[in-house]
Amino acid sequence: MRVYDLILKKKNKKALTTEEIGFFIDGVMSGKIKNYETSALLMAIAINDMNIEETFDLTLKMAHSGDIVNFDKVSGTVVDKHSTGGVSDTTTLIVVPIVASLGVKVAKMSGGGLGFTGGTADKLQVFKGYDLNLTEEQFINNINTVGASIITQTKNFAPADKILYELRNLTASVESIPLIAASIMSKKLASNASVIVLDVKFGEGAFMKTLAQASTLAKTMVEIGKRAGKKVSAILTDMNEPLGSGIGSILEVRNAINVLSGKKNNLATVSKRLCEELLVLSGAFDSKTAKKAINDTITSGNALIKLQEIIRAHGGDDQIIARAELMPKAKFIKPIYSAKEGFVNQIKSEELGYVAGQLSGKKMGKIDHTAGIKLFVKLNTKVKKGDKIAEINASSEKDAENVAARVEDALVIKNNKKNKGKLIQAIIR
Ligand code: URA
Repeated sequence: MRVYDLILKKKNKKALTTEEIGFFIDGVMSGKIKNYETSALLMAIAINDMNIEETFDLTLKMAHSGDIVNFDKVSGTVVDKHSTGGVSDTTTLIVVPIVASLGVKVAKMSGGGLGFTGGTADKLQVFKGYDLNLTEEQFINNINTVGASIITQTKNFAPADKILYELRNLTASVESIPLIAASIMSKKLASNASVIVLDVKFGEGAFMKTLAQASTLAKTMVEIGKRAGKKVSAILTDMNEPLGSGIGSILEVRNAINVLSGKKNNLATVSKRLCEELLVLSGAFDSKTAKKAINDTITSGNALIKLQEIIRAHGGDDQIIARAELMPKAKFIKPIYSAKEGFVNQIKSEELGYVAGQLSGKKMGKIDHTAGIKLFVKLNTKVKKGDKIAEINASSEKDAENVAARVEDALVIKNNKKNKGKLIQAIIR
């Protein structure tokens, strides 16, 4: 078999066989297939697509390119959730403790932010000392004793995805439904939970800009999961405005604590829906009992206590959960006022995500977790001239001034309201 023939075949819009896909990934892993050949095949896939059989074969082969987590020593069903990435999308820090507090075990591997989206791994750094790099043994131990654990991906975890993702990034072939689905699901299959719930975002602050694209991606990932023997579902959620009011690690951790303390908002709605899916698919609850249990565990304070236990089990300092006054504050805060009267007609979430990333200094290596943007408005909020609509939290006055115009431009005030869709558009099972 020659990789040249595989590239030619895909260029001519033909489907690759299981053997050919196996040959491709084996060659990528051994180094026999060179980066220029891999990139050419990835581009042919990005242009000419893959059918579900090819996409499944690719996913499985990528998942098995490294270690698969072994849950034999965990009793009961293990569940996992994944978001395709959004702005102020802090659902993991809410969903994991809620579900674990209800006796269902959660095993979660989280990454840092990608592009304009935030990542749970960054937010957990807010809890001083939190160790994301547990061994598999410690990970399993935490799941058994506390009910949940959140770590970063281990070194030999779906390594084929790391190679393909980097090449896709360098050669403009990231935007491909089969490649995205295989990338995400290979990692979910290597994580090896038997229940997987996906939060597929669409809109201004998501990688999938339209509901149609998000729906195709969600259906593809659900089908892959089912073929791999997993219980899996996806919810399609609107990301045309940030999910919470804060963008940036500390602000988002605060948003999560607020929801776990009973606050009701969009972040709470999406998080609770994800919990419900996980609890029902785990077999421990039906839809009605799950809804009640979720509300009860929040009201009783058990979900918040579970978050503290998870943080402590990772060596993290959990004091800021109970004592908000200990939460570090940004050195400089610049308020942004509305320049006119009207309605918030658009929130350029992707732009705000990039600005928050810049404020935190992530690209420069030294992260300021207190930096970010706090929003005081949602889409369609009525504002008067001079109302405070946002606050820039920055390391210095200069940093805040540098981005002030961008934040102002990202909050578009018009005379009319925006025609908003539903927050949760569909559930795909
Ligand atoms: N997230 C992933 O893990 N992979 C992709 O290809 C896109 C988003």
